[in-house]
Amino acid sequence: MGFDALVRQFEALFPACDPPRLCRAPGRVNLIGEHLDYNGLPVLPVAMGEEVRVAFAPADDGRIELRNMNPAYATAVFANTAEIPPSDGGAWENYVKAAVQGINRALDAKAFPGMKLLVDSNLPAHAGLSSSSALVVASAMAYLGVFEAAHAISLDRIALAECLARAEHYVGTQGGGMDQAAILCGKRGHAVKVDFFPLRIERVPMINDVAVVVCDSLVSANKTGDALLKYNAGPASCRLATALVEHQLREDFGGDIQLKRLGDLWYGHLCLTHQEAHDLCMSAIPDARTTVADVGRRLGLTAETVRETWLGAVPEPQGGFRLRARLRHIISEFRRVETARDALLAGEAEMLGELFNASHISCAEDYEISCPALDALAAACRDAGALGARLTGAGFGGAVVSLVPCDRTESFLKALAGSFYRRIPFLAERPPWSVVRVSNGASYV
Ligand code: GLA
Repeated sequence: MGFDALVRQFEALFPACDPPRLCRAPGRVNLIGEHLDYNGLPVLPVAMGEEVRVAFAPADDGRIELRNMNPAYATAVFANTAEIPPSDGGAWENYVKAAVQGINRALDAKAFPGMKLLVDSNLPAHAGLSSSSALVVASAMAYLGVFEAAHAISLDRIALAECLARAEHYVGTQGGGMDQAAILCGKRGHAVKVDFFPLRIERVPMINDVAVVVCDSLVSANKTGDALLKYNAGPASCRLATALVEHQLREDFGGDIQLKRLGDLWYGHLCLTHQEAHDLCMSAIPDARTTVADVGRRLGLTAETVRETWLGAVPEPQGGFRLRARLRHIISEFRRVETARDALLAGEAEMLGELFNASHISCAEDYEISCPALDALAAACRDAGALGARLTGAGFGGAVVSLVPCDRTESFLKALAGSFYRRIPFLAERPPWSVVRVSNGASYV
């Protein structure tokens, strides 16, 4: 829906309000660097043309009232207070609650203004394109619009991205900061290389004659629903691995070396080379599978303490965690991100395509975040003429991102319609793919 129609709808729903202000927050497509962000390692996403749009105005009753143009999302109202209780798991208003509470905390709010918000979106949900973080960012910008006007206070974009990455943990997923950074710091025609802790952004120009195409596997991956524990198994496994690697570092070098996250191996005091980090990780985790009891024995802790300290609700898989394979993915994917950034700068599309393919295999075999539909779709994309194709985002369903020479996009989409999508009915005006318009980050309109 266009912004004019959104304003008209807002005025019809909230006739007593001031004329609304508007903002937009795009979805993101991660080109490469999956499940690296929460380990403090870099990723390379772009902001896309599809976006969440909101109209908003202050309300003087201290309540936040949300409406959505999509009737699947029911109206919600909540009191804005220092501690906002979440609605039942999966409720859409939790993303808005996360944003409001995150900003209240970041700005140390003492007064809690009300707001009316009308949301519209043309981003598919549960497709690995960050529709939920786009909602968090759009509602945060709306709330900041109301809050800053009332308090003459502000947050810059980097601070806001860091604040919202933490804030989104409110919904139960232990994500990193990639989505919020890409959504806030995207730039038309550029990929965004994002480094973390602290957040740093480098904009890298895209290659002119290659298109980025995202194709939906039509397997829904709901990170606050079915996929919640599957997603959180990633961060939990990495926390376990970090504890073991830290232990190994202390054995090798003595002293009281602290490893907050795996990325600290390459940065900060340690500054290991890729080879050193690899060798250290492999010697810290020598077996294909590591049980909670193994970790306890190694660290001198009870299994109970290991579970409480690092796992939370994530269950131990039969036979133990595949920590060694997880680390192989993290280490090799980090190198692929660096090489992909260099390939973009050098205009080497074929090299980038090869990195996409290698990343997909690593995500599927070592990090175990693929599924049969994603594997089949990535293969179909390659067969249809992509230079490379890989799952994008959290995984477990959602989309595949492909790199396609611009003069071959038409034949690529035609081939896919006749292969992967052959038996799947879809509306011509809403095809399950999108040729990505690499766009600017979120803005007021
Ligand atoms: C989700 C999370 C991100 C990131 C990706 C995987 O999108 O929100 O923080 O971990 O999965 O790369």
